[in-house]
Order: sequence, then C-alpha cells, then structure tokens
Amino acid sequence: MDCDPGHDDALAMMLALASPEIDLLAVTSSAGNQTPEKTLNNAMRLLTLMHHQEIPVAGGNRTPLMKPLETAGNVHGKSGLDGADLPDPDFAVQDMTAIALIAKTLRASTDPVTLVVTGPMTNIALFLRVYPELKHKIDRIVFMGGAMGLGNWTPSVEFNIYVDPEAAKIVLNAGIPLTMAPLNVTHKAQILKPEIAAIGEIDNPVAHAFEGLLNFFEVYHENPKWGFKGAPLHDPCTIAWLLHPEMFKSELMNVDVETQGELVRGETVCDYYELTGKPKNTDVLLDVDRPAFIQLITDSLKTFD
Ligand code: BDR
Ligand code: CA
Repeated sequence: MDCDPGHDDALAMMLALASPEIDLLAVTSSAGNQTPEKTLNNAMRLLTLMHHQEIPVAGGNRTPLMKPLETAGNVHGKSGLDGADLPDPDFAVQDMTAIALIAKTLRASTDPVTLVVTGPMTNIALFLRVYPELKHKIDRIVFMGGAMGLGNWTPSVEFNIYVDPEAAKIVLNAGIPLTMAPLNVTHKAQILKPEIAAIGEIDNPVAHAFEGLLNFFEVYHENPKWGFKGAPLHDPCTIAWLLHPEMFKSELMNVDVETQGELVRGETVCDYYELTGKPKNTDVLLDVDRPAFIQLITDSLKTFD
C-alpha cells in the first residue's frame, strides 16, 4: 500500500488490516495530503495504533516529479490526521527508500502482488522507471484518483492526480491492469453523521480514534457547495473493491492523463464511448452499494482489541 495518510487513507489501511483475506506486505508513504515527513509519521502512527508494527514501512519521494508539492491541510489538518490523539510510532522505519521497499517486497513474493495506491503516484512512477524488470510481479494497481467529468481540487481535476499528473500518466500507460476509484464512485461512498456516532459506540481504542478522525474529516465536507449528506470515503473504496467487488459497478475503458492543458492539467480522460480505440486499460468504479460499504467499515472496526 502506497498512501499519504490522510483520514481516508487511514480507513483504507484499517480495512486491509482487519481483513484476513488481505496480507498487507508493506506500506510506503507519498507526499500529498501533508509533507513527506508527516505522511510517513502518520502511516507509522496508524500501524502503532492498530498493533501492526511488523509491517515494513518506508518513506517515499519528497516532491512530485515535475511540480512543487501542494498539500491538503485544509482537508486533513496540520498533522494530516487531525481529530484524534494517535500514539507515537514505537517501531523503526526501514532504512531504504519507498521504491527499494516495493522492489524488495515484489522480489520476495512468489505470487504476483497488488499495489494499492491512495495518494499521488510519484513513488509508483519512479518504481516503474527504476525497476522495469519487476513490472511483471505486479498483478494489478488499484488506485483512488481522478474522475470522469468531475474535480475536487480544480473544476476538472481530482487532488491525487493534480499533485503529480506526470507520475499518474506514467502509471496509467504502463500496461499493468488498473482499477480506478474516481470521484464518481467515492462521492457516493459517503458516511453520514449518525454512522460516525455509531462507530463511537464501538468499544475499542481503534474505533474511538476513527470516530475522532471522521468527525474532523466530515466538517470540511459540510460546505453546501459539495451537496453532500456526509463525508466521502475516497480511499477505502480501493480495499473494499478488492474484498467485495460485488459491492461496486464498474466499466472497462481507456483512461489517460492530461499533463499539458492550461485548465485541465491532471484531468483523467476517460474514454467511456470508446472514441479513441485505445486499449481498455482501466476498470473504472462508477457505483457502490453504500450501506454495504459502511457496514464493512463498521464491522472491520469491531475486529480490533
Ligand atoms: C484524495 O485526496 C486526498 O485528500 C484523499 O486522501 C484522497 O486520496 C481524494 O481526492
Ligand atoms: Ca489519500
């Protein structure tokens, strides 16, 4: 898992850790929601909270490939995970870069490995450039990012792709099977205030921490301009799809990234009507069974001590 925690990244990690079907092999952090120091620290704080200090963690590239870093403190707070008192990390970070850890993990695995990406794609693009010989060990890349005709950072650009459009272009054109959770589906994956309150009723420290995190995250989305009833849980859609693809509706299509446009740099261009004849490289999630998705999150939180 390559992530920039981030409230919804935290939920994605929680879902993975709570699910025996998933063997979380390694966590790498990307610069995105907050600075690289903070997202790395947050990933380690989350693994400490959830008692999974055995999972190797490495910090990723400090900046996007071609742009200065822009962060999302307005959404995720000063720490990147405001709203809960998380424990300080009580284990050591791996003494290697994120791409070296991804390479080590792929080499060590006899089976192909799924990469789940819930932040900007800088690390994955660099990995593919530096270790092309390991590409065949990647089974699929499941990522949250982009949109079909929507934006949440500019009118037509989603945050993760906005931060590093060149990296996203490299990854989407790598010839690896892709599953994309765009805003079209994640904006349907909203958690409502009473559902957050119900999480607060679960009697364990992990659920209590997530109640605080979700209450903080929800406030940003109360602005009526979004037209939301709750907070969109973007990143956990990736893990939820791996666990329960039947919860989602998807369409296979070609997706590419615009890296030049004056108004649309970072837009994911989704060829819904097959106008280009280019290979259908991406399974694009378009709808979710929201009650089942929220139930999965709630049930997962109950599994912690
Ligand atoms: C994405 O941007 C980040 O703020 C979230 O963590 C999510 O990955 C949503 O656009
Ligand atoms: Ca994220």
